[in-house]
Amino acid sequence: MRLGTVGTNWITASFIEAAHLSGKFTLHSVYSRSLEKARAFADRFGAPNAYDNIEEMAKAPDIDVVYIASPNALHYAHAKLFLENGKHVICEKPIFSNMKEWEAAFASAEANGVYLFEAIRNIHAPNFKRLKDRIKDIGTVRGAVFHLMQYSSRYDAFKNGEEPNVFTRKFSGGALVDLGVYPTYLAVALFGEPKKVSYHPILLRGGVDGGGTLVLDYDGFVVTVLCSKIADAGLACEIHGEDGTIAFDKVAPISTLTLKERKTGKTEAFHVEQHEQDMVYEAEEFARIIESADQSGYEALKALSRTVLTITETARKQNGILFPADE
Ligand SMILES: NC(=O)c1ccc[n+]([C@@H]2O[C@H](COP(=O)([O-])OP(=O)(O)OC[C@H]3O[C@@H](n4cnc5c(N)ncnc54)[C@H](OP(=O)(O)O)[C@@H]3O)[C@@H](O)[C@H]2O)c1
Repeated sequence: MRLGTVGTNWITASFIEAAHLSGKFTLHSVYSRSLEKARAFADRFGAPNAYDNIEEMAKAPDIDVVYIASPNALHYAHAKLFLENGKHVICEKPIFSNMKEWEAAFASAEANGVYLFEAIRNIHAPNFKRLKDRIKDIGTVRGAVFHLMQYSSRYDAFKNGEEPNVFTRKFSGGALVDLGVYPTYLAVALFGEPKKVSYHPILLRGGVDGGGTLVLDYDGFVVTVLCSKIADAGLACEIHGEDGTIAFDKVAPISTLTLKERKTGKTEAFHVEQHEQDMVYEAEEFARIIESADQSGYEALKALSRTVLTITETARKQNGILFPADE
């Protein structure tokens, strides 16, 4: 499939590498606000076309799929443009600012006969599948703690008075939607939709959350999600069952998995070696769904995306963290 891209930061380069590794995509067109940047990026990956006019790229007949890695607040306008022009869209997490945008974009995908995916890397990788398969071995689940806490270099800029996109509500930023989505995706993919959601954010200048604790209530247990862009963590992630505990190193990507049986104290490692470029798994899965028109696989991913965005939107609004798109 011929791939187009929006955004020229490192994450786009990483996805292009993964897309090429999957053997299913070839970079064909690059959009940047600067033609010079688009040309340099296209040349780096051997793509023939560079654009600084996004409408022109959307109308080009020789692009099948577009990967969008623009600032969060622009995802909706960018995705809508390509969907309306009959292109499949792979949009970076967090897919949209709120459910209003989500509903409109997925309706547009359906009306135009194309697919729309949220690019979330961790649930497509082999170690996540292993984790999901082994949960039954720890008996009744009684709790879980998942986290993604990473001090961001952009926080230094923020502290110096700058306004990086991810640290401003103007661009639908904040720790929960930026990093909290990974552990939240894990929780929803493992346990489904929670009964109740409560978020305890650490608010920074401008009302954006620099970090926080999200509590997801399920029948008989809670999942505690820690996220931060202003401090690091050195904890393992854990799922606690009546018969044992599963521990893993991090939520994205999961590279080590161990299960400890409560009664015997026996510990078993059950991870596999994953590809260093772990975005390859999502690229393969999106290509598989498109090529085989796997509607049920598509609907399952869509349902996950809907639940995760509903959770983060609820959590934000409980705390008055509003985005311009909410108004
Ligand atoms: N999956 C992952 O592991 C992962 C990792 C990092 C980021 N992401 C996601 O990828 C997306 C991009 O993140 P990022 O950190 O790369 O964002 P960013 O640096 O703020 O912006 C990404 C790109 O958008 C364009 N851009 C920047 N500011 C803009 C503005 N004010 N108006 C219009 N375009 C602008 C720039 O491209 P041009 O200058 O070429 O136009 C830039 O390269 C986010 O949704 C983020 O959550 C995902």
